[in-house]
Amino acid sequence: MNQSIQVEKQNIYKISQHSDELAPLQAGEIRFKIDKYALTSNNITYAVSGFKLKYWNFFPVNEPNGVIPVWGYADVSESNHPDVKVGERCYGYFPMSDYLTIQPSKINKYGFSDGAEHRRKLAPIYNYYSKTATDPTFNEHTEGYIPIVKPLFATSFLIYHYLKKSNFLEADQVILTSASSKTGLGLAFMLKQNQDTDGKKIIGLTSTRNVEFVKSTGYYDQVIAYEDYVKDLAKDASVIVDFAGNAKQIKKLSETLGDALKFISLVGLTDWKSAGSFSKVEKAEFFFAPTHIQNMYKEQGSEKTNMILNKNLVQFIIDTKKMIELEAINDFEKLSTIYLGMVDGKVNPKKGYLVSIK
Ligand SMILES: NC(=O)c1ccc[n+]([C@@H]2O[C@H](COP(=O)([O-])OP(=O)(O)OC[C@H]3O[C@@H](n4cnc5c(N)ncnc54)[C@H](OP(=O)(O)O)[C@@H]3O)[C@@H](O)[C@H]2O)c1
Repeated sequence: MNQSIQVEKQNIYKISQHSDELAPLQAGEIRFKIDKYALTSNNITYAVSGFKLKYWNFFPVNEPNGVIPVWGYADVSESNHPDVKVGERCYGYFPMSDYLTIQPSKINKYGFSDGAEHRRKLAPIYNYYSKTATDPTFNEHTEGYIPIVKPLFATSFLIYHYLKKSNFLEADQVILTSASSKTGLGLAFMLKQNQDTDGKKIIGLTSTRNVEFVKSTGYYDQVIAYEDYVKDLAKDASVIVDFAGNAKQIKKLSETLGDALKFISLVGLTDWKSAGSFSKVEKAEFFFAPTHIQNMYKEQGSEKTNMILNKNLVQFIIDTKKMIELEAINDFEKLSTIYLGMVDGKVNPKKGYLVSIK
């Protein structure tokens, strides 16, 4: 039997556990037994934008439900493919369930993709499974943090390179909203690492309750609570990287900065209930990491890109271990409590949740 955790696609507060028969494995297929996966606000955003960005299409189940994709580890438990061995451990994009059946394609010593028909039109980065045995970033020190940090840090890394390539749109300061989010911290880390060369001031906007935590990371030159930025923010040439998605906040920030605002990168929706229509926000552009990584692969090659990304990732994980404490979720009750809290924005940025329901 396969236990899965599903939510109603039109009402993501409705979370439930299901048990279904596993279909017999077909020729060319393999079955993963999912071991553990991370849960962060990013997964809530997958659900919130499930229709628009097709996140519901990865692991379809019976209507009206959907399965939220998660990043984690799984072991090959059955194989009908000559080039994939039982016991191989992989990192990648999984459903919140016990098992996932895929059709491996493009197999090499580093990993393979799911070549199933319904995934072919979806972003390739989500269809790739890397073998932990041949990925230099996996070791006993990084194992727990990788599912929490890696998918988010990849985005932080890509935003940094995008801004750098665009000469920071001539801005002198980079302002991050939801500065306590893991993706925000990853970008602040990249900016700090390169600050001597780039010379950009790094400013974090966050909730009052998270100000001390954000300051303690040491990445930001200035940390301001949302209530205070109108008076405390220098009106210097600025780029905003928005992880919060709060439409009123973006409007207010734009008005506060006036002509000093050069560009807004719309990355996240942590504050999804306050999101509005962003199509009319001036100087703003959506940032979709799967597109940016394909661009960087084309420009620099995937091997070089991954090498630089992984080097920075390992450094960031060393820092993350001091800032973020792992917490295990081992049963459905705890998972639904944490999940519903996250949907409502009750997120403790000092926690990194790892789900493993046996
Ligand atoms: N565009 C892309 O390709 C891409 C890729 C990766 C991630 N993202 C997005 O980046 C965002 C951050 O993800 P994450 O997993 O790094 O987040 P996280 O670490 O779980 O973020 C936690 C922080 O988000 C803020 N927050 C969370 N829920 C909120 C709510 N309901 N209302 C108001 N604030 C809330 C709080 O920060 P503050 O108090 O500091 O505001 C909280 O401390 C997500 O929306 C994610 O989808 C986008």
